[in-house]
Amino acid sequence: MQISPSILAADFAHLADELDAISTADWAHVDVMDAHFVPNLTLGLPVVESLLAVSPIPIDCHLMIEDPDHWAPPYAEAGAQSVTFHVEAAKDPVRLARDLRAAGARASMAIKPGTDFAPYEDLLPELDMVLVMTVEPGFGGQSFMADQMPKVRQVREAVRRHGGEIWVQVDGGVSARTIEQCAEAGADVFVAGSAVYGAESAADAVAELRELAQR
Ligand code: DX5
Ligand code: ZN
Repeated sequence: MQISPSILAADFAHLADELDAISTADWAHVDVMDAHFVPNLTLGLPVVESLLAVSPIPIDCHLMIEDPDHWAPPYAEAGAQSVTFHVEAAKDPVRLARDLRAAGARASMAIKPGTDFAPYEDLLPELDMVLVMTVEPGFGGQSFMADQMPKVRQVREAVRRHGGEIWVQVDGGVSARTIEQCAEAGADVFVAGSAVYGAESAADAVAELRELAQR
């Protein structure tokens, strides 16, 4: 069970300190948005490069961008330890996943709430993680979509059938109230933005989420 706090809910004026605050987590989740794939704009490669230089933990880059075939590999080349692209935006997901792995990153595919997983099951051998979105991508602080739990189960089942070590991540509205049902459905990597950075102590929130996920 791994916890990946999203720095989208952190103070962007003090990102190095905000990364230190989650040093007990497994990953730092960095949401890259381009104002085209999603109606919001966050940060890009230069900021990720700076974060990589100071982060005490590996970086889990979630790219909500158009044309990931072109724009995603540079994040892996920069040293991001995990790079997630949206399959809805990818032209050639097999080639993209191979490019990410060749650059040394874990290759991960994200699916939006309205996207079926079944057509992409064949991609599993190319992947190290599948991200099942539990909100519509674009903003932090939205309500958790419990109706995505059957999809988490479906992905976990497919991973079991295929074998190999492929993680199943959930992202959006994950909190102390919702994490147990995600774990129960088969998720093993949990992204949480507001639940971690909105708490009085980010470290305590990480510890609490980890404990609940392991129950
Ligand atoms: C939403 C982002 C999430 C977001 C999660 O598009 O992908 O990573 O930061 O924020 P919370 O945990 O507040 O829903
Ligand atoms: Zn995210």
